[in-house]
Amino acid sequence: MTKITAAITAVGKYIPEYRLTNAELETMVETNDEWIVSRTGIKERRILKEKGKGTSFLAINAANDLIKKSNLNPTEIDLVIVATATPDMQAASTAAYVATQIGATEAFSFDQIAACSSFLYGMSTASSYIECGRYKKVLLIGADMNSSMIDYKDRATCIIFGDGAGAVLFEPNNEGLGLQDEYLRSDGVGREFLQVSAGGSMLPATAETIANKQHFVYQDGKTVFKYAVSNMADVSEKILERNNLTNDDIQWLAAHQANKRIIDATARRIKLDPSKVMMNIEMLGNTTSATLPLLLNDYESQLKKGDKIIFAAFGGGFTWGSIYLKWAY
Ligand code: UT7
Repeated sequence: MTKITAAITAVGKYIPEYRLTNAELETMVETNDEWIVSRTGIKERRILKEKGKGTSFLAINAANDLIKKSNLNPTEIDLVIVATATPDMQAASTAAYVATQIGATEAFSFDQIAACSSFLYGMSTASSYIECGRYKKVLLIGADMNSSMIDYKDRATCIIFGDGAGAVLFEPNNEGLGLQDEYLRSDGVGREFLQVSAGGSMLPATAETIANKQHFVYQDGKTVFKYAVSNMADVSEKILERNNLTNDDIQWLAAHQANKRIIDATARRIKLDPSKVMMNIEMLGNTTSATLPLLLNDYESQLKKGDKIIFAAFGGGFTWGSIYLKWAY
């Protein structure tokens, strides 16, 4: 019997209209375009401005884009996973709301939360459900409204993050295409370096935590940068070794986009030509869980059936890893 693999068969995206440029950031914090571009590679990011809308709004629009493009009947979807670091609310599942709004009435749904690695881990979850034969259509959405947890007076964080969402559909494949291998890691040593300290169970929100700005993202950028560079490069190298692949065998690197220097370091370590490195950081910044599906959406027209893609991500926790996937269409 041929082994069932889990392939991506459709993609979709949504980014909000509002562009937060480096020029505008210069009016908000002490920074400048030259510093931001040379240190991060970012020129602008998208921000969801409409009041009362959250991550689900981004996710629903990305899913609907996929549904429209691929002519998918939403009632055929078995499972909806929303990979995110910024769910709409505590306690109420964002995915449940998204699934209902897109008409996935026969699906069950859940959120997958692993900071910037949410979507990468979600690829593993979605694929596992397909590979074991239990479900046939798993919709994986990566969506984050990072602006909801950013202090626009903190130049160490506000220059990096943006909002957006991307969606992919996983389906069974009998040609051996789709997810081939994964190497996923985590290490709790990282939580002191990148966190939103209040609003969770350990430190519920109070007037004092708000006054102390503990509901915003704090990051020790330099330390996170060091861990990100070495760990993302290590796992990418490891997945190549494990699968007997060289740089020549690989068509694309789809890496989490937090800082262009981290992506470049990963590509250098696996000796990949820059032309094979997918990039969206310049115009979108760090979109957390949305980064990888947005890359796939933007490069979709250049991808060929059988292309070998290495995915890599690193984020809060710490969480990180690498996935090797063969493109299926
Ligand atoms: O996606 C989740 C994971 N997150 C990441 O992977 C982010 C990793 N970290 C980074 O990308 C970088 O650390 C940052 C972009 C956040 C910061 O870049 P850096 O090169 O590490 O800068 P730094 O924090 O070491 O600061 C260097 C200098 C400092 O000035 P002095 O002390 O040398 O005089 C900072 O005060 O740059 C200053 N600085 C800025 N200057 C202009 C810090 N932020 C800014 C800014 N504009 N926005």
